[in-house]
Amino acid sequence: MNILEEFVRIFHHEPDLIAKAPGRVNVIGEHIDFSDGFVLPFAIHDYTTVAMRKREDSIIRVLSHQRPGQIFETSIPELNPSGKGDWERYALGVLWAMQISSGVDLFIDGQVPLGAGLSSSAALECSIAVAVNDLFTQGHTLQALARITQRAENEYVGMPCGIMDQSVSLMAQEGYALLLDTRDLSTQQIPIDLASNGLELLVIDTQVHHALVDGGYAERRADCEAVAKKFGVKALRDISMPDLLARKNELTANEFVRATHGISEMVRVHQAVAALEENNFVTLGQIISASHTSLRDDYTVSCPELNVAVDEAMIQGALGARMIGGGFGGSAIALIHSKESDRTISAIAQAFEKNGYKKPRFFTSLPSAGASVIQRVGL
Ligand code: GLA
Repeated sequence: MNILEEFVRIFHHEPDLIAKAPGRVNVIGEHIDFSDGFVLPFAIHDYTTVAMRKREDSIIRVLSHQRPGQIFETSIPELNPSGKGDWERYALGVLWAMQISSGVDLFIDGQVPLGAGLSSSAALECSIAVAVNDLFTQGHTLQALARITQRAENEYVGMPCGIMDQSVSLMAQEGYALLLDTRDLSTQQIPIDLASNGLELLVIDTQVHHALVDGGYAERRADCEAVAKKFGVKALRDISMPDLLARKNELTANEFVRATHGISEMVRVHQAVAALEENNFVTLGQIISASHTSLRDDYTVSCPELNVAVDEAMIQGALGARMIGGGFGGSAIALIHSKESDRTISAIAQAFEKNGYKKPRFFTSLPSAGASVIQRVGL
C-alpha cells in the first residue's frame, strides 16, 4: 500500500499533498554548525514522506507507518512546547513554529533509519515544513524554513541542535555536497563524484545510542559559546588558532579542548573543499580521519564502538574514516574503494562480534536531492 492509499484507509479522504525530505551524512564540519562554521553534508537517498490534508477545524491528527495503532490527536490551541506528544513533537513543533491557521491530518512514512545519526528528525521536520509551506501558501524561502525547523527542534523538542541537518535536508542537490555557511546560510553546491572514481562512502551504524547524548551535546555547545564570550566575539568562527593558544590560560581545560576541535574543524572543512575541487580523495581521506581524531580526543564525543568501526575501516584500506553527527553512538563513515566494500563490511562486522558489540548495520548512499512536494492530490 502506498502512502496515499494508507492515508485514505485511515482518514477516509484523500490528502491534499505529499512531500518528502531526506536524511543526511556529513562529509566534514562536525559540531561547528552552532559556532557559525562552514559544514559540508550531503543528503542521503532515504526520505521521510508525509501526506497532509488541511482540515476545517483546529484538530491535528498524526499517525506514522512505523508506529501503527492509535492516531495521536491534539489541536492548534494545545500546541505549546510543554504540551503532549512523544516522537510526534518533531512534527508538532514545526506546525507550532509555522503557526498553521487550521488543523491538519498527517500520515508519516519515515524511511531514514532511526537512531543511526542520519538525521531522521530533520527529515521529519523538513517534510512537514515543505508540506505546510505549500499547503498554507506561506512562501518561506528554504533558508527561512531551515531557521523555522531548527527553532521547532530547539524550542519545542528541547534539543539545542545547530542548523546543518535541516539546511541540507531542505537545500541539497543530487550529485553535490552542500557547503553551508551556518552564519548566514549562504550555500555552494560542491560536486562530489565518488562513483566514477571507484569510491563510495560507507556508513556504519553502530546501533548504539549512549544515554549521554543530549546532555553531552548541550554541555559542549555551552563550552564553545563560553569561549566566544570570553574572547568578546560572536562565535568560535571569529577566533583563530593562534588567538586561542595565546589566551589559553583564560579558559578552563574543557573550554580549551572543545574550542581546539571547533577551530581546527573549521580549517579542515576548507581543506576538504579544496581537495574535492582537485579530485584529491587521498587528501580528503586524511582530512576526514583528522576530524575523527579531533572528535575523539579533543571534543570527546566518540565511543568505543565508533572507534572500532573507524580503526577497522582504516586497517582494511579506507582512505579516511570518522564518526559523524552528534556522537556517543550513531554512525561512522568510511571513504573506501567500492571494490573493497564487501571485505571492509565483513571485517568491521567481525571486529564488532569479537568485542561483544551489537551487530552493526551498513548503508551507502550517493548525494541525493533535498526536500520537495512530490504530489498534489486534492488541490
Ligand atoms: C547533530 C545536530 C547538528 C550538528 C551535529 C554535529 O546532528 O543536530 O546540528 O551539531 O549534531 O555536527
